Amino acid sequence: MTDASEPINLFEYEQLAKTHLSKMALDYYSSGAWDEITLRDNRAAFERIKLRPRMLVDVSHINLKTTILGQPLEFPLLIAPMAFQCLAHPNGEVATAMAAASAGVGMVLSTLSTTSLETVADVGRKFPDSLQWFQLYIHKDRGLTRALVERAYAAGYKALCLTVDAPVLGQRERDRRNEFVLPSGLHLANLSTISGLEIPHAQGESGLFSYFAQQLNPALTWQDLEWLQSLSPLPLVLKGILRGDDAVRAVEYGAKAIVVSNHGGRQLDGAIASLDALAEIVTSVNGRTEILVDGGIRRGTDILKALAIGAHAVLIGRPILWGLALKGQSGVSHVISLLQNELNLAMALSGCKQLQDIDPSLVRF
Ligand code: FNR
Ligand code: LAC
Repeated sequence: MTDASEPINLFEYEQLAKTHLSKMALDYYSSGAWDEITLRDNRAAFERIKLRPRMLVDVSHINLKTTILGQPLEFPLLIAPMAFQCLAHPNGEVATAMAAASAGVGMVLSTLSTTSLETVADVGRKFPDSLQWFQLYIHKDRGLTRALVERAYAAGYKALCLTVDAPVLGQRERDRRNEFVLPSGLHLANLSTISGLEIPHAQGESGLFSYFAQQLNPALTWQDLEWLQSLSPLPLVLKGILRGDDAVRAVEYGAKAIVVSNHGGRQLDGAIASLDALAEIVTSVNGRTEILVDGGIRRGTDILKALAIGAHAVLIGRPILWGLALKGQSGVSHVISLLQNELNLAMALSGCKQLQDIDPSLVRF
């Protein structure tokens, strides 16, 4: 039985979460860059695409299981890397990891987590086959980056997810007005202990924006991927690709998976909606790597549309933070199960018994 006061979809989670967060945290989580055109278009792109369901298929048993980079998932969902989850709930990244692993979906931990990567990996180890990847931001200090990669490998993460769309941080104007900074007690848990790095207080600016400007390496190019891959045997995933030619280069430089993403509309405003970028990338890659997509996924039908265009799995971002803000681990679990149930229902209604039945003929642009 569902409690009548419980949210029944991800949009209701968003509405309710607004009253559970400080203005600084809510603005940081929800913002897009500049005029938020890309943020809105990520959603609009899903609404533009229409489904062409098949009828008279026996859908009494639906199978949602899949694998990503050889690891099993209960359904094709990963939680996107998101910084500072302890702003939403004291258990932050640990609650997210518990919910992801117990539901059999993946989790990508941000370099900028408020819980150490070792603590989050300990949660994953309690569940056989849990899929945990480490998201990497490359700092100017190469030794620091090397240490992060070695720690991620030692802790048991299964892939390195390098975010390539943030050589500098996008301008989120509410964060600028708020002079965004972490409240006392929260730290860059992967960095402060080994290097003393913290988010600075910046006059008239988001502290995170100035952290990126001071610490992250804006000079990173394709050539650096060789160095990165020499640091550990972990497979490389590139997150933030929006063009077919970049996707082909990613394959040539050894990426094992690509995340088609515009960072939830938080980087270059005016960038193409990730769903609109997907088809070209699927064609260019032509099966040589696995393809994931994120940005604006809020319904089971959105997952169906992304898979029909050719994604192997999707990532969701903000709705996880809304679940966390409302109810910690159980909120995140509920958000995941709402999406899983909606995908199940959407597949039944469109005549798909298993993920392989979801083909490009299911959508019309
Ligand atoms: C992010 N995102 C992000 N990406 C990344 O590679 N490293 C990071 O640390 C973060 N941090 C982060 C914080 C917050 C608050 C948000 C909302 C997003 C981007 C994230 O991984 C993902 O690409 C988008 O959030 C997906 O879009 P939706 O699902 O939020 O619409
Ligand atoms: C963000 C960074 C941390 O989107 O990726 O806020």
